[in-house]
Amino acid sequence: MRAAGRGTFETVSTDATADIGLTGLATMGRNLARNMARHGHTVAVHNRSYAKTAALLEEHGDEGDFVGSESLEDFVASIRRPRAVVVMVKAGEATDAVVDALVPLLEEGDIVVDAGNAHYEDTLRRQQALAEHDLHFVGMGVSGGEVGALEGPSIMVGGSEHAYERLAPVVEAIAAQVDGTPCAAHIGPDGAGHFVKMVHNGIEYADMQLIAEAYDLLRTLLGLSPAEIGEIFHEWNDGDLESFLIELTAEVLTHDDADGRPFVDVVLDQAEQKGTGRWTVQSALDLGVPVTGIAEATFARSVSGHAEQRAAAREVFSSAADVPTIEDRDQLVEDVRTALYACKVVAYAQGFDMITEGSNTYGWDVDPGVCATIWRGGCIIRARFLDRIREAYEQEPDLTTLMTQEYFARALKDGEAGWRRVVSLAAAAGVPVPAFGSSLSYFDALRRERLPAALVQGLRDHFGAHTYQRVDRPGSFHTLWASDRSEVDAP
Ligand code: 6PG
Repeated sequence: MRAAGRGTFETVSTDATADIGLTGLATMGRNLARNMARHGHTVAVHNRSYAKTAALLEEHGDEGDFVGSESLEDFVASIRRPRAVVVMVKAGEATDAVVDALVPLLEEGDIVVDAGNAHYEDTLRRQQALAEHDLHFVGMGVSGGEVGALEGPSIMVGGSEHAYERLAPVVEAIAAQVDGTPCAAHIGPDGAGHFVKMVHNGIEYADMQLIAEAYDLLRTLLGLSPAEIGEIFHEWNDGDLESFLIELTAEVLTHDDADGRPFVDVVLDQAEQKGTGRWTVQSALDLGVPVTGIAEATFARSVSGHAEQRAAAREVFSSAADVPTIEDRDQLVEDVRTALYACKVVAYAQGFDMITEGSNTYGWDVDPGVCATIWRGGCIIRARFLDRIREAYEQEPDLTTLMTQEYFARALKDGEAGWRRVVSLAAAAGVPVPAFGSSLSYFDALRRERLPAALVQGLRDHFGAHTYQRVDRPGSFHTLWASDRSEVDAP
């Protein structure tokens, strides 16, 4: 059975009238389809169980033109060629199953779009497999959650030029718009879109962990209530820190449960994850990019989940914080704010390094400035300072690190003293600040004249003859540690 149009359920002819198709009508898929229809595109919709399709047509059919199909065959036939079919199902096996079912129904030049949070290596694999059938596979990162999908997400498209040309009128229309610019772009070929979405999520992990540490510091060191801290975040949202996540933090912290208890006090303190942060860290290790903020944020979630070990440690070491007397409350609040901003600069700098490295490794030619531009709206990490990142890459496309660019260097210098005070206080009081601390260490490591890595090299050479290089002449060397300790040229 096929049903068409604005809430109607009549059987329609097999004309290929739809501009685009979308299969997988759980919340994200359903909202994306509605967003497309609201922008004047005729959307073919399909779901494994027809009930969801019927519900969409019933509840939202009047928002635009939908063509609902019960079978995948009818669904595919209802899309005009070259067909663009968006798949919005669970990452992994579910996606493979839908893609496999679609392939025999499609024709040369048709496009399959995976709009889920797929691993970019899966996207690479699927793209190669579909290319053998003369089909285009697009890995499309979509950020913004349920509301974003409906009202304007940020969209990172990875795939061929042909595919983007076909998709652009839809994706650029449904994306969030900032200063008249759509938060959607062709990021690069094959896995580029999903890679950039993965890094986006990694930065999201770091951002949230940093916010959580700032909250913990204010609460533990100053004894402020969640609602009072919520007010502070609310004020911070008027300055450089202005962002979606800071805005949400103010809301979450000022929210009480039905019994009037602060919401954050009744939520189990074990953060979960679906995997994109972990993927970012795993890929970063492979690419050799030190995304320390993202890694600490991912491990912090993991630590929080180790309930038994936490209980054992509390018993042996006590959980009491040893809070020093704070003379100047306002100064500490300001220190935490500037430290949070400095850490945020580090986290984004590391994320952008990873995008550059991934792009170089896979030959994607990703423009980091474009990523910053389309992250200004719609996505979870949207923030005022992304405009600064966009400007930075516009002025200097080959920027070595965002941290040394004038505006960000100033933010780091201005925040440095407060940053050090906050991290020292946290250590003295016993407040865990893995992301604040590691970001400061990263900053210090980058600016250090000499790192103790020289000693590491010496040890490697001592126990394993792994050789080393010297600062005063070229070549590789080895010291004969077990005999006369003379130095020889290494082969
Ligand atoms: C987005 C979000 C979205 C989702 C994450 C949450 O950009 O819209 O990042 O993709 O909320 O998958 O990830 P965790 O469950 O791993 O925190």
